[in-house]
Amino acid sequence: MAARSVIRMGHPVLATKAREVKEFDTPDLHELLADMFDTMAAYDGAGLAAPQIAVDLRIVVFEVSQNPRYPDAESVPRTVLINPVIKPLSDAKDLAWEGCLSVPGMRGAVPRHTHIRYTGFDEFGQAIDRMVQGFHARVVQHECDHLDGILYPQRIEDLSKFGFIEELEEAGLIPKVES
Ligand code: NI
Repeated sequence: MAARSVIRMGHPVLATKAREVKEFDTPDLHELLADMFDTMAAYDGAGLAAPQIAVDLRIVVFEVSQNPRYPDAESVPRTVLINPVIKPLSDAKDLAWEGCLSVPGMRGAVPRHTHIRYTGFDEFGQAIDRMVQGFHARVVQHECDHLDGILYPQRIEDLSKFGFIEELEEAGLIPKVES
């Protein structure tokens, strides 16, 4: 088990549609997931998609428990989500700042559906089916976008709300985070 390197925007794997997982509960899958959680912890991320470590499979992991990068965010349970499908539960969207380990040092304001249902499978092939809102819904939409080769800057509608963390903090657009 080990943290792996996170690839950054511009790497072709991040722009590629990832492949479905066909086999569950295999040693390779368990090792990959352990590495994904180690990587997420090493980079202090809220979530990680397999393509971010250059593995083109439809797997995301996420967990938020009082992450200093997201001081106002509600917690999100530790989750392995494989072959996910997202359905918006309404047309409502909200705008909030996001970052991404593959776009280091930057933040952008991204519109996301406020309420979604997501389905998929855990590492043992057990079905997952949740209806969530707010920050949890945002994290899932961000991570699952990675599986379709989409990074959050592509979702930004007002590019004046995209920039380097230090500049945005200085401008008072995002709160300063102690780290
Ligand atoms: Ni990301």
